[in-house]
Amino acid sequence: MLGYRHGFHAGNFADVFKHVVLVCLLQSLRGKDKPFRVLDTHAGAGRYDLTSAAARKNREFEDGIGRLWGQTELSPELEAYRERVRALNPDGQLRWYPGSPRIVRDLLRPTDKLVLTELHPSEFPQLAAEFKGDRQVTVRHADGYALLESFLPPPERRGLVLLDPAYERKDEFDRLLAAVGLIHRRWASGGVAIWYPILDRAPVSRFQRDLQASAIPAILCAELERYPADGPPGLRGCGMMLINPPWLLEQTLKRLLPELLRGLRIGDRGQVRLEWLTPAP
Ligand SMILES: C[S@@+](CC[C@H](N)C(=O)[O-])C[C@H]1O[C@@H](n2cnc3c(N)ncnc32)[C@H](O)[C@@H]1O
Repeated sequence: MLGYRHGFHAGNFADVFKHVVLVCLLQSLRGKDKPFRVLDTHAGAGRYDLTSAAARKNREFEDGIGRLWGQTELSPELEAYRERVRALNPDGQLRWYPGSPRIVRDLLRPTDKLVLTELHPSEFPQLAAEFKGDRQVTVRHADGYALLESFLPPPERRGLVLLDPAYERKDEFDRLLAAVGLIHRRWASGGVAIWYPILDRAPVSRFQRDLQASAIPAILCAELERYPADGPPGLRGCGMMLINPPWLLEQTLKRLLPELLRGLRIGDRGQVRLEWLTPAP
């Protein structure tokens, strides 16, 4: 069932939200000397050409990175995110958009490591080519959930698992829940970031209740809805579950989410949400 191709959506509002949070998480990991490792289980192609037929089909990037590209006076975290995109577009023309693997790789220090898995037969070769010969990056053509079984725990105590599936399967939230349990058992000191879409609220609410029932501590939920449920059909918002977030992240997101909403909303009735599903110990 691998129908999803991220190239149609690269750089859209959901990518901006996810990648801003990702940059904040990486900045925090870089704040301490000890090496860290990032596992990106649903990696995608690594970078995307916004002039491709796929990206031009619905031009979703225009309502995402396109809105932030020329903005002045961004807060430092949004600026740091945009800098990752600028690094791929040195002539100032927005053409290439970095996927999560490229963003993470560019923020690694020489002692840090990145492990990537991608299952799609067309995305994987692009991903492999992007990191060919890079000794800090391991790239596998494999199921990201299965990868966790074999790669956890890593030698480093510090790090992050990014779970960013395409939600094509009805049981995706169940698979995520199992993955969260495994990570907690094998690498409780690691952080977890799970991206999810907000379309129909019911499966998201069920997932949130299941996470609360799991008794895993320190789960922060951050959401951005660019328009309300009575607006047009489609992806109105998205969120991230952040397990073991860095202690300053809540404060940072309190400031950033409204700024992101102002930049990305459609109409004036969007909203953001930031709350602990389970408290930090
Ligand atoms: C939303 S995209 C990832 C985008 C990427 N994380 C980024 O931010 O740039 C989801 C990707 O997961 C891949 N995928 C779907 N099921 C998978 C699985 N079980 N294991 C690994 N990759 C999978 C899809 O082919 C797709 O490329």
